[in-house]
Amino acid sequence: MRFFIDTANLEEIRQAKEYGLIDGVTTNPTLLSREGGDWRDQMRAICEEVDGPVSLEVVSSNAGGMVEEAKELVKYGSNVVIKIPMLMEGMKAVRQLSEMGVKTNVTVAFSPAQALLAAKAGATYISLFIGRLDGLSQRGMDVVEQIVTIYDNYGFETEVLVASVRHPMHIIEAALAGADVATIPYRVLFQLAEHPMTDLGIKQFDEDWEKAFGERG
Ligand code: E4P
Repeated sequence: MRFFIDTANLEEIRQAKEYGLIDGVTTNPTLLSREGGDWRDQMRAICEEVDGPVSLEVVSSNAGGMVEEAKELVKYGSNVVIKIPMLMEGMKAVRQLSEMGVKTNVTVAFSPAQALLAAKAGATYISLFIGRLDGLSQRGMDVVEQIVTIYDNYGFETEVLVASVRHPMHIIEAALAGADVATIPYRVLFQLAEHPMTDLGIKQFDEDWEKAFGERG
């Protein structure tokens, strides 16, 4: 399972990279709006910082506009993936971009029907916003499980990307469901490592060592 980091913040990206656990980055208009400054410079800097795929989102609502934006965004790096909103116009853009050899990530998706359309259009990734579904009392992971089954049934190559992650259980359940990628907020990446028994165990080892041999090196 690959981990992307869900942020447009360069400091978070640099720090997460140091742990060697991050395979790519997803951004969106909201995340970029939080960074201020020139969004083009920010996108370019992210693409330079990261070796793996970086999803950059278009903001047009018609296929022609999306494709024109994509042609500019791909200039920011060879690792750019164009994020396209889950609209019928978006499907048209995905088809054109995939025929041009441009990778796409269909975003703001919530249902197996949408995922089926994205796969048929030739999307590289489908981003399922599971945390937002959970927030509406609908189990987001059910949708992920259904999509993994549908893609397996027909051998679709579109990768299932679990997005809108809120906590570590989302990652565990996504992994159990066979999702290809989870895009993870910086805070949740660190939560994955936490366990009170780990803290207690390490504390005990440190105390025993210090009692027997003095200070640690
Ligand atoms: C995915 O690529 C999106 O950037 C993101 O996961 C959206 O999540 P949110 O519900 O936290 O805004």
